[in-house]
Amino acid sequence: MKFKKKILCIGAGYVGAPSMVMIACKCPDYKVTVVDINHQRIDAWNSDQLPVYEPGLDEIVQKTRGQNLFFSTDIENQIKENDIIFVCVNTPTKTFGAGAGMAADLQYWEKTARQILENSQSSKIVIEKSTLPIKTALAMERILASGKGDITFDVLSNPEFMAEGTAIDDLENPDRVLIGSRETKSGLKARSQLVDIYARWVSPEKIITANIWSAELSKLVANAFLAQRVSSINSISALCEKADADISEVARAVGMDSRIGSKFLKAGIGFGGSCFKKDILNLVYLCHFYGLPEVADYWENVVKINEYQQDRFIANILQSMFNTLAGKKICLLGFAFKADTGDTRESPAIHITRKLLAEHAEVVISDPKALGNAAIDLAQDGGQISYVEDPYRAVAGCHALAIMTDWDLYRRLDYRKIYKSMIKPAFIFDGRNIIDQQKCFEIGFNVFPIGKPALSRL
Ligand code: NAD
Ligand code: UDX
Repeated sequence: MKFKKKILCIGAGYVGAPSMVMIACKCPDYKVTVVDINHQRIDAWNSDQLPVYEPGLDEIVQKTRGQNLFFSTDIENQIKENDIIFVCVNTPTKTFGAGAGMAADLQYWEKTARQILENSQSSKIVIEKSTLPIKTALAMERILASGKGDITFDVLSNPEFMAEGTAIDDLENPDRVLIGSRETKSGLKARSQLVDIYARWVSPEKIITANIWSAELSKLVANAFLAQRVSSINSISALCEKADADISEVARAVGMDSRIGSKFLKAGIGFGGSCFKKDILNLVYLCHFYGLPEVADYWENVVKINEYQQDRFIANILQSMFNTLAGKKICLLGFAFKADTGDTRESPAIHITRKLLAEHAEVVISDPKALGNAAIDLAQDGGQISYVEDPYRAVAGCHALAIMTDWDLYRRLDYRKIYKSMIKPAFIFDGRNIIDQQKCFEIGFNVFPIGKPALSRL
């Protein structure tokens, strides 16, 4: 079959692959190829066991793979063959040298830019889909312009706003698609080519264009604002616990103000995920770079409150369980950083597990999708850890259970049966405020919610 357009994505991770799956699904006359240096990952994308769990993803991959969607490790040839190239490689926080612990590590990004330059035999549109510091497009342009000949490259910024666990719905019905470009003749022409792709399924008023620096910055700012709301409500949850107020009631009352809105006001054990912390630290680093220490401090506090919330949760477990956890068995229900994903990157459960192990507790971890990743995260940690998928078996014989992830499954467990199988006095630390806390108290548990008075007989 002759395809109308050929599109390549470099980086087959949580974002690159699902975004391309959606393009392939909505544009059957385009050939979409996703490449990665990680052979195992590409093999998994070509198998029945996809490397990413995302509701609805399997079905679309089944429909498109081998038709107009292809996964490959042949990066060089694919660069030659495609004129529209999305780049969605990882941009983690730098762990070494200048800016360590804060700036974005752009080594994968730069390698990709050089690879594109080395293998290009025709002009290309290169689209930043990774989340990047402001002005990265300039660096990309400079690398790409260092080649010889009359091949030209237009660099666009098209940050991705999808969230894990809802990726398919977010990609299919985005609040907006943002495309940043240079305002030159060729920049605008490249931009309109990308607009045409999204226009296949996204209504025109939702496809917004901007200058390239605004587009790059908007992504960091959107994540910083979302994370700020979580830290704001979590900071107030600490006050509620002291003052006998109820964080759910406060969040409802505050969120019903249409100027504020009700989303992202769920108090819990703090935000996790690969994006929020990294992107805020990246923003903080940029503010310092541009000589704005007050602005940097303002945003850094969002991360500090997140760490405080996790430490507070552990301190509460320790204090409620008579100031000793040594030899006690504690079950963590959930390990993923949120529901409907197997991703555990920056999951608060990692930090909480380590703190429990430091107190010499025995930790039993349960999760419907994330046990493989949990075992990798904790592979180097000493202490007693076990992994049990079935929540009833995981909890049996434990002194306490702590809810780490808002999986719907945990709302519907038979807590009477669970209570019977646990050591008494039995404790529940509801790190997500998702269970019927009053009912569990009536069953016999001592229940410790977030941001609400404890329901305890002790
Ligand atoms: P990921 O680690 O899951 O995927 C990145 C992939 O890029 C990996 O498979 C890696 O092997 C591959 N890669 C690295 N260097 C390469 C190279 N030179 N050539 C080919 N492949 C290479 O990361 P992710 O979660 O998909 O995130 C990717 C980007 O998208 C990041 O910048 C992130 O900030 C951004 N983002 C992530 C999310 C999210 O929810 N995870 C949402 C929006 C944006
Ligand atoms: C985030 C952004 O939402 C998304 O737009 C961006 O593209 C990538 O980063 P993601 O990290 O996948 O997405 O998940 P998100 O739904 O934002 O949740 C992040 C963390 O905040 C999770 O740990 C979640 O449990 C926590 N959270 C979220 C809360 O604790 N309370 C809330 O009210 C909302």
